[in-house]
Amino acid sequence: PLPTRVKIVDVGPRDGLQNEKQPVPAAVKIELVHRLQDAGLKEIEVTSYVSPKWVPQMSDNAEVMAGIRRVAGVRYSVLTPNMQGFEAALASRPDEIVVFGAASEAFSQKNINCSIAESIERFAPVVAAARAQGIAVRGAMSCTVGCPYEGDIAPEKVGYLAGLMKGVGVQRVDVADTIGVGTPRRVQAAIEATLAHYALDDVSGHFHDTYGQALANTLAALELGVWNFQSSVAGLGGCPYAKGATGNVATEDLVFMLHGMGIDTGIDLDKLIDAGQYISGFLQRPSNSRVAKAVLAK
Ligand code: HMG
Ligand code: MG
Repeated sequence: PLPTRVKIVDVGPRDGLQNEKQPVPAAVKIELVHRLQDAGLKEIEVTSYVSPKWVPQMSDNAEVMAGIRRVAGVRYSVLTPNMQGFEAALASRPDEIVVFGAASEAFSQKNINCSIAESIERFAPVVAAARAQGIAVRGAMSCTVGCPYEGDIAPEKVGYLAGLMKGVGVQRVDVADTIGVGTPRRVQAAIEATLAHYALDDVSGHFHDTYGQALANTLAALELGVWNFQSSVAGLGGCPYAKGATGNVATEDLVFMLHGMGIDTGIDLDKLIDAGQYISGFLQRPSNSRVAKAVLAK
């Protein structure tokens, strides 16, 4: 049977906006986070503590984290690739930090400037320090199906990375299809490779919709019992080190599908659409959510 409830992490403020060319003021990011939590999101990926030379859009990380009105029961997460990022993030009291590796060597080099093995060496002290402070640790695994530089990625590589993540104490992992080339059976193979190291409750699906496969891949993951997913309000985004990759599946579209299947998310779709309209309005482009477009056209 399929899961009866799903937990969604909205990664819009981070994954969605990191690649945005126009400046997005901290106040707009903060308002977006507020609207997401008002819509019922219980986990929000707010920002990243990465090099401002690599990802200028996230350089207001401390300001954004400081400006958020925190709601009890909502988990606020931030990306921290190394100890420098973790130490900078600490002052902002994240509930969870995210280390991010790749199943592809080439992508690891392009994204975080080191090999997979080196990345794990960098993550180890970050994970240990976070856990010592009672901060939860998630591991994002990029390119689990395909890589913009290496092409198809075998499930064995995903299993290898998941094993390394587990070995350094990462508590849960995201199976990310960074460039959206995954199709349902291949995504299932990547998830199954991960399940050799992590319990079902600790595995989430992170699907980009570049090739329009994200909802199909979500259903494929649900069939395996996965009940944690990441998505981006209004379908914002793309990764700066994955050329041509579009945003995550729109949270609105994911919620519409899940509710239509009788799966509970705790999210108010109308308020979520409003949140999507808010950020799309600021960016002066139409939402990438098919559901938002359809609802607003009525
Ligand atoms: P590096 O150049 O190898 O780092 O970059 P370094 O340790 O040699 O330091 C070089 C400079 O960076 C120094 O500054 C450091 O202070 C600074 P300088 O002396 O030249 O002025 N630096 C930092 N500054 C701020 N925060 C830090 C930090 N670390 C070093 N944490 C590094 C390595 C990881 C920093 C760099 O490659 C980087 O920032 N990469 C960012 C990549 C990124 O954010 N990508 C997008 C997120 S991943 C993603 O979107 C995928 C995901 O959604 C899942 C999916 O869909 O696949 C998660
Ligand atoms: Mg992503």
